[in-house]
Amino acid sequence: MAEKTIQTKTPILRAQNLGIQFGGLKAVDSFSIEIGESELVGLIGPNGAGKTTVFNLITGVYKPTEGSFYLCGQRMNGKKTHQIVRAGIARTFQNIRLFKKMTVIDNVKAAMLEHLTYGLPQAIFRTPRFWSEEAEITRRAKELLAVVHLSGKENLEADNLPYGQQRRLEIARALATDMKLLLLDEPAAGMNPTETEELLEIIDYIRDTFKVSVLLIEHDMSLVMKICERIQVLDFGSTIASGTPAEVANNPKVIEAYLGKPRKERGPDA
Ligand SMILES: Nc1ncnc2c1ncn2[C@@H]1O[C@H](COP(=O)(O)OP(=O)(O)OP(=O)(O)O)[C@@H](O)[C@H]1O
Ligand SMILES: [Mg+2]
Repeated sequence: MAEKTIQTKTPILRAQNLGIQFGGLKAVDSFSIEIGESELVGLIGPNGAGKTTVFNLITGVYKPTEGSFYLCGQRMNGKKTHQIVRAGIARTFQNIRLFKKMTVIDNVKAAMLEHLTYGLPQAIFRTPRFWSEEAEITRRAKELLAVVHLSGKENLEADNLPYGQQRRLEIARALATDMKLLLLDEPAAGMNPTETEELLEIIDYIRDTFKVSVLLIEHDMSLVMKICERIQVLDFGSTIASGTPAEVANNPKVIEAYLGKPRKERGPDA
């Protein structure tokens, strides 16, 4: 019989005791998490709990005042956002950030720009290599739009898409980078139940097809419970629970955070 080997795989994301303070407020305190390959983890908590701030810390928007984080074992503290994107973390934003006046397909192509291999002279003089790569980029952008169910909308102005479709376009833009970890900040916000159901299918499909790990912020617990393998719950910057959806849903601290005490000293939306 073959001997059993113990595999200790490096997690895609490892955060250890990450913290940041704004003035007197500890927005995130001792945040730790490990996300494995192709894992789908939920990050939930009431308004102002620190969820978006966690994303801002691990994408280099804010510098953690405490702790460290690693992507595939590589320490990321102090790296700039573009370096972190290159290393493999992509995100969408709670407040949609698109080039509103550009077409849908150009929004995706713009996100792919960083990965272009042709240089400026080739772009100016339109060499054969430029055209072949341009065709390839268009093909790929269309493929990504198909993933988020936006085929046929390529030439519309992003601004003219309904809200739910703009959120999906944001996801297509995030997919345009070679990511290992995808951070989604309330992708279902403002969607109706049918759109939300479609979005869940898309997220699941992305995870399976792109072999990417996903950290998903969502307010609606019934929604994250459907697709996440694990959920971590923040309240006032601290982790109050983590575990399987069932464990988290039955945790008294979580129930209290959601239904209990009146929220005090909550800041404005990020
Ligand atoms: N740049 C900043 N300066 C000062 N305070 C900030 C800053 N960014 C976030 N905060 C504060 O940190 C806390 C956590 O905010 P954060 O946006 O991370 O919460 P959240 O869990 O994403 O909330 P929501 O569900 O409303 O999006 C809030 O009190 C917020 O006001
Ligand atoms: Mg937020």
